[in-house]
Amino acid sequence: MPHTFETPVIAGNWKMHKGPDAARKFCREFAQVAPAQNRTLIVFPPALSLTVVRADLIEHDVGVGVQNIYWEEDGAFTGEISAPMAREAGAEYVLVGHSERRHVFKETDEETSLKVAAAMAAGLFPVLCVGETIEERKAGRLEEVILRQLGAGVKTLSDKDFQHLLIAYEPVWAIGTGETATPEDATDAHTRLRNRLRERLGDAADDVPILYGGSVKPDNAGELLAADQVDGVLVGGASLDPRDFARIAAA
Ligand code: 13P
Repeated sequence: MPHTFETPVIAGNWKMHKGPDAARKFCREFAQVAPAQNRTLIVFPPALSLTVVRADLIEHDVGVGVQNIYWEEDGAFTGEISAPMAREAGAEYVLVGHSERRHVFKETDEETSLKVAAAMAAGLFPVLCVGETIEERKAGRLEEVILRQLGAGVKTLSDKDFQHLLIAYEPVWAIGTGETATPEDATDAHTRLRNRLRERLGDAADDVPILYGGSVKPDNAGELLAADQVDGVLVGGASLDPRDFARIAAA
């Protein structure tokens, strides 16, 4: 079924923060300050807190997702969770290839491809994350790196599958560092990604949301969201505070 995402998309990636109790507290506080919506709000809690966040925020029209999946449906894969399990627990979205998965856990392009395919098969919307390191950027390899990551991630997709895909451009040097890409940096990278999508999809490329992530805060979210080709933001640290996240969601 075709799907159109309402933009901007404001997503919070909690990373390894907030077990069920802290998640419940966040939801209680966020419910008091949640902005009125004509946008897509998503929270990616740790998997153990997913059902809590879903139950508490569904009436506020906030979607939930998991931060990672394994590509097999089930089996002897200790410590992993599968896409159908995440879907059954209420997840609608999944982050794939986040920079911490790639750089801390050594996830490969090939693995992101399998995970995107598994997400699609289970009816989850994958958010494929791409982004260059500072060394790659300084060496003039921005485009090469992000287009390689994009190409690998979408390798198995049909043209129709792209209606269910989101992309997040997260330059590694801007994640958790307080150093944000400028709106121009974001537009530049997003345009390169969009042009690659356009080669394949034509005008339908405009319907694939491309989010920016990397030190998004309440006071820079507005200018980033206003930047050309930026369809939303993926927020780490600032999504942990319900007031900050609400301010970003209202930006
Ligand atoms: P920060 O917003 O903490 O820089 O994290 C960005 C991120 O990795 C979101 O997925």
